[in-house]
Parts: sequence; C-alpha cells; structure tokens
Amino acid sequence: MNNASARVKQLQNTMAPIHRFCVESTWAQKDPTADCCDFTFGNPHELPLDSYVDALSKSLKPQNKDWFAYKQSESDAQETIAKSLTERFNHKFDSADVVLTNGAIAALNLVLNLIVEAGDEVMFMTPHWFLYEGLILEAGGQARKVSLTEETFELDLQAIEAGINTKTKAVIINSPHNPSGKIVTKTQLIALSEILKRKSDEFGLEIYLISDEAYSQILFDDQEFISPVTLYDNSFLVYTYGKVHLTPGQRIGYIAMPETLKGQEEFREALNVLQMFKGWAFPNALLQHSINDLEKISINLEDLQRKRDVLVKNLVDFGYEVFEPESTFYLLVKSPIDSAWNFVEKLANEKVYCLPGETFGLPGYFRISLTANQSMIDKALPVFRSAL
Ligand SMILES: Cc1ncc(COP(=O)(O)O)c(C=O)c1O
Repeated sequence: MNNASARVKQLQNTMAPIHRFCVESTWAQKDPTADCCDFTFGNPHELPLDSYVDALSKSLKPQNKDWFAYKQSESDAQETIAKSLTERFNHKFDSADVVLTNGAIAALNLVLNLIVEAGDEVMFMTPHWFLYEGLILEAGGQARKVSLTEETFELDLQAIEAGINTKTKAVIINSPHNPSGKIVTKTQLIALSEILKRKSDEFGLEIYLISDEAYSQILFDDQEFISPVTLYDNSFLVYTYGKVHLTPGQRIGYIAMPETLKGQEEFREALNVLQMFKGWAFPNALLQHSINDLEKISINLEDLQRKRDVLVKNLVDFGYEVFEPESTFYLLVKSPIDSAWNFVEKLANEKVYCLPGETFGLPGYFRISLTANQSMIDKALPVFRSAL
C-alpha cells in the first residue's frame, strides 16, 4: 500500500476545520458557473490591475541571455525591497538580508525550518490564519496557541508571558491581523518586546519574533502600521505581495532580517541552502524582474474602505455585531446563533457565502472578505437582512 506518511497525516489533521469547510459546506458544493456572492476567501472577484499586467509585460521581453536562467534572490530585487523597507520604517535593512520567497507561506516555512529544532515550541495568537499550526509542525516544532483578548483582539500580554517556557523558540505576531483587521499598537509591541527580552535572558535562550506582515500595506483611515521588527532585535519580517496586488496566485514575497538580528550572516547562507532543498523555493524570474514596478502598485484602498463602510453600516443597521477592521480585507461579524457554521449555511442557501469562525479558531463569528465585488455586496445585503 502506498499511503501518505504519518507526518503528512498529522499535517492534514491541523487543517481539519478548513478542510471540512472546503469539502462539506454548501459553498464547496456550489455550481462554480452560477452567479453567487462569494465572501469566503481573499480572492479577486474583478480583473487584475492594468498597472500590474503592464509591469509583467514590460519584464517579459528578455534583456540578456540569463533573463530566464535559474534565479535565487536577485540583487536588483533585494535592493529595491531593502530601500523600500528602510524608508517605510525608518529602520536599516541591508539588501543582502532580504530573501526573496514564494510569498509569505514559503517565507514562514523557511524561517521556521531555519530556527526550529525538534520539540521546540512556537507560539501564535488565536483566532488565527489557518496554516500556522501545520507550518510549525512541518518544521519539527510544536504549536502553542494563546488567545487574543475577547471581542477586542489585542495581544494578551500576561497570557503570552505565562505561555513562554524553556522550549519556546519563537513567537509569531500577525499584525495587521487576519481575521480581525486589528493592528497591534506601539505600546503593546514595546511591552511584548520587553517580555521577549526578559524571558530570553531568564532562560539564556534566543526567543525569536516572526512578524507576519502580509497586510501591512492594506490600511484604512490613515492608520499607522508599526513593524514589530523595529522594536525587537531578534526578529524576522515576513511579507507577501499577494495581498497588496490581490494576486495570491502570483507567488512572490520575502523574508527581511533587520541588522539587529543576531547571527544574520549565518542565517543568510542557511536560508539560501534551505531554499534549494525546499525545491528551488525562489520566486520566478519574471516576478523578480518586475519588482521595481510591483513595489509601487496597490489595489484601490479607497474602494476597499468604501466597501468596508457600506457593509459595516448596513450590517450594524440590520442588528449585527460587527468588528470594524483597521486594516486587511476582512470583516468579522458575530453570528446571531451559537453555531456560526449553521448560520453561514443558512446564508449559503441564498447563495451568499462567508467563512465560519470554526475554521479560524473563533466559533461564534463569521468572516466576510471585502474582495467581493460591488454587485455581490448589493445582492447580499437583503440576504444578510432577512437571515436575521
Ligand atoms: C495572515 C496571513 N499570513 C500569510 C498568508 C499567506 O500569504 P501568501 O499566500 O500570499 O503567501 C495569508 C494569506 O491569506 C495570511 O492571511
């Protein structure tokens, strides 16, 4: 028999709630050609930006014989990113410490494989993005979940401190946060940094901070985003362009190591080797050649904010409890009945599809993706109203 290994089955188990949704829900069984209002995942529901297509078209024409040769982290791309990060955060990043990856998923996979030894713990906050646990397990670690504060989705600093122990290798911080859209404040980041320093000293260990900043450029109401890596020395910054361009199928992102990270020269080389053995996990040549233009492109944030405002206002008027996001493309809504799964199924019977909180560690809530188009919003509003 040629069954999948026990290790793969363990990874599958971490995905059980989302897998159930992707297989058993009414959304999973819908007719893909039928008209519907799909608010489940952060996928595009309109054509990609012209500027995005132009940027790729420009780089399509080879400028030398190596244009489509094997690529690692290309120096032009590294320099563009280091310059942009240094300017955005007023914090020095060396181009050699920027590692181009296939989006944030590969970046997280690489950082975890770089630092985690068998049995180490890696902490992350819940509600959570659905791949953290599996990514930690895949790297040989054990996941430790700590809840964010109820209803306000802030870091629970006491619980974080209490959860850190001699096995803790890293803490993943996801700000702006999927699914709440909450940005961690500077005061909380400073307090977190103090805890990590104190605990590292107490145990004589390096505790790393992994900052998943996938949504750092999707900010509403002139919100300010402060990168945790600017406030804690032993940090890795993880980024993907999949959100700001709304092109999650175009795999490009990076790991950036601030100058303050101890051992970063060794890490650079080790990451490069890991990328080879992870199946040449570098973004493709075309994407890397385009990065100078791609770095300047963003989806229309005004339009996204307008969609947020329309949905928040209407849902609140109907009587829903909504958590208004400061960032990201998600809206968290309290389910009017205990089982968000059942409520989402009720909406699905009217072809309005949302993601139940059971899939991201927050039963009792459901998530609406603002990447749905305007016509979907218009059709869905009466359904949201009558479902109450
Ligand atoms: C919090 C968070 N981190 C990482 C990712 C992965 O991004 P990508 O698929 O672009 O690598 C996502 C995608 O949804 C996310 O929400």
